Amino acid sequence: MGRLDGKVIVLSAAAQGIGRAVAIAFAKEGAQVTATDINGEKLKELDGIPGIKTKVVDVTKKEQVEALAKEHDLVDVLFNCAGFVHHGSILSCEEADWDFTMDVNVKSMYLMCKAFLPKMLEKKSGNIINMASVASSIKGVVNRCVYSTSKAAVIGLTKSIAADFIEQGIRCNCVCPGTVDTPSLRGRIQAQPDPEQAFKDFMARQKTGRMCTAEEVAYLCVYLASDESTYVTGTEQIIDGGWRLDSNTVQFTGGDRVRGVRSLMSELDIQKQK
Ligand SMILES: NC(=O)c1ccc[n+]([C@@H]2O[C@H](COP(=O)([O-])OP(=O)(O)OC[C@H]3O[C@@H](n4cnc5c(N)ncnc54)[C@H](O)[C@@H]3O)[C@@H](O)[C@H]2O)c1
Repeated sequence: MGRLDGKVIVLSAAAQGIGRAVAIAFAKEGAQVTATDINGEKLKELDGIPGIKTKVVDVTKKEQVEALAKEHDLVDVLFNCAGFVHHGSILSCEEADWDFTMDVNVKSMYLMCKAFLPKMLEKKSGNIINMASVASSIKGVVNRCVYSTSKAAVIGLTKSIAADFIEQGIRCNCVCPGTVDTPSLRGRIQAQPDPEQAFKDFMARQKTGRMCTAEEVAYLCVYLASDESTYVTGTEQIIDGGWRLDSNTVQFTGGDRVRGVRSLMSELDIQKQK
């Protein structure tokens, strides 16, 4: 018997990385999964997996999101995973970067939740899981200005939905990973001027000595999607290997550790990256 037997689940960003691992884990636990993504080619790789059907959807497009919701009468779990990482401080974040990031990371969740909630409310039962990040209101991270702003908004949206609809049988939680080894993370490392150094920098902040895997995030999502978590709502589920605990510590290249205020840390990290 699976932990998600009989549950109907719709998720976004299923073509690769965390979304793909979650779609596979949901199906393995007995759910009927509609796995969506903007990338039809990669999404096809999920075709043929028992329990999964795929559909190309751009979650920033209202008509596409509403059409997806119309196709589903009963949805037990909605998992909003689509996201984009922009690198830079506020000074290097152009208006177009800001708008694009907020559209993919936040407006998409607004559209999806708004489209799927009415039928959940009719049934007086529904479960929404949103993908946030530790880089948000939880932890200040260098060069992630609009990304962190967008993920803080996801945490706010999650708590707002949880509070508004708790008495109508709806629960809503978000997942806040640290650094997860996914194709997009590898791509972002490769895109840096010195990929080897960039990889070392990513590893230096992993106090566990390794990155999180997409499958580890999927285990947490299975728990949130299942009836094992029916009393859990309005929460930020952190899965970061303790990364957030080190917010006041600066690791110099020489190896010294210095405790200081966060502004000092940001200043030093910016200098280190130059
Ligand atoms: N990888 C990490 O270290 C990490 C850490 C914390 C949070 N997250 C969050 O987890 C989520 C997934 O991250 P990942 O690293 O697996 O990403 P990824 O880039 O590997 O996958 C993202 C997927 O989203 C899809 N997508 C992008 N725009 C879309 C759109 N408009 N409509 C539909 N699909 C769209 C892409 O095609 C891709 O398949 C994101 O929200 C990300 O911010 C990732």
